[in-house]
Amino acid sequence: MSVIRGRNFKTGSVLATVLSLLLPAVIICSVTIKPLLFEEQLLWVSGVQGEVNTYRIPLITFTPMGSLLAFAEGRKSSSSDTGAKFIAMRRSTDKGSTWSPTSFIVDDGLAQDGLNLGSVVVDQEVGSVILIYTSCFHLYNCRPASTMMVESIDDGLSWSSPRNLSVELGVKNFAPGPGSGIQKHYEPNQGRLVVCGHGTLEGDGVFCILSDDHGHTWFNGAALKSIPYNQKKRPLDFNPDECQPFEMTDGSIVINVRNQNNYHCRCRVVVRSRDGGMSLPIDDLYFDYELVDPAVAAGAFQKEGVLFFTNPSNALQRINLTLRWSLTDGNSWEKEALQIWPGPSGYSCITSMDSDSVDDRKHIYVIYEKGQKDYYETVSFAKIHLYGGR
Ligand SMILES: *[C@@H]1O[C@H](CO)[C@@H](O)[C@H](O)[C@H]1NC(C)=O
Ligand SMILES: *[C@@H]1O[C@H](CO)[C@@H](O)[C@H](O)[C@H]1NC(C)=O
Repeated sequence: MSVIRGRNFKTGSVLATVLSLLLPAVIICSVTIKPLLFEEQLLWVSGVQGEVNTYRIPLITFTPMGSLLAFAEGRKSSSSDTGAKFIAMRRSTDKGSTWSPTSFIVDDGLAQDGLNLGSVVVDQEVGSVILIYTSCFHLYNCRPASTMMVESIDDGLSWSSPRNLSVELGVKNFAPGPGSGIQKHYEPNQGRLVVCGHGTLEGDGVFCILSDDHGHTWFNGAALKSIPYNQKKRPLDFNPDECQPFEMTDGSIVINVRNQNNYHCRCRVVVRSRDGGMSLPIDDLYFDYELVDPAVAAGAFQKEGVLFFTNPSNALQRINLTLRWSLTDGNSWEKEALQIWPGPSGYSCITSMDSDSVDDRKHIYVIYEKGQKDYYETVSFAKIHLYGGR
């Protein structure tokens, strides 16, 4: 703007041309967010599809080629966190209008404990999609727990066989996400892959694993430990648990965390790393009283400087799946909120296309657990138009 200001336009037509060039940018900046639930589809229904008893723990990601990939645990014989499972995947190449049939990209056989999802992270520099999950996390008739990775280099069409990251990270119980990891867009450590998760229930806390070479090798990063660490917890102890990181435009990483034992509040814990995921200083930890939460895995996402958050917005029950947004880096949340589903609802995850196209700038995508009586009856996909509401 400063270049144009002070110039002396001789004719109206020049001015009109300049205005018409400037106007689209001005309009995009000044339009207020008014989300509209644009379309919704059930991607998985528990109990009616093949060999699966219950679908839970939905993840969603964009891909560098502009597709959407949705993942969930296909729990073979019960709704329990333990027991044998598949990793189920569906793929959409038309921004969520239609989806491929389900494919099971990992099968843990007849494992007693089995696998648990997980974090999906996209490497835009090499065009790969990486899925990290845990095996035998609950040590239910098996041990030790292992951190596992599969990778796709063809937009989710095929997947590598599982790789055991515990060999390089050390043996520990690490449950990634559930949600998405990030690739850092900004310095410090631009290009780094950051996947955060939580530990065992006694040795709980938020832990991040990092890769600076597109997932070829991984190392341990930040740890924010529970108190008392490695001791049985009591109600109201400090017990940070499932978590969702996202990158701010200043290059810091914010992690929105489940407050498992309701320490201090029935609300979300927020921590921040300014050194690329190597540390999570207590100085930067706060409790977000506005984000009331029943202790659950929530969705958190930054797009063009606006923060988005989804959870069952209720202090006691997993009901009332709600989208909130912040124009102030999470210091406050807008008064309006979009209720996506009033009834039973659980875990959620948010993504959006990372492109400059007008269509991609207008939409975010939410996947969540949704039911009539129980939140784990279905996994639902919601396409949200950010400027469509009234
Ligand atoms: C993964 O590697 C660790 C460390 O070598 C090992 O203890 C564990 O049994 C391995 N897990 C699997 C599933 O192979
Ligand atoms: C649903 O969430 C909204 C936004 O946080 C809140 O105002 C409302 O009280 C919630 N309703 C229920 C039934 O929890």
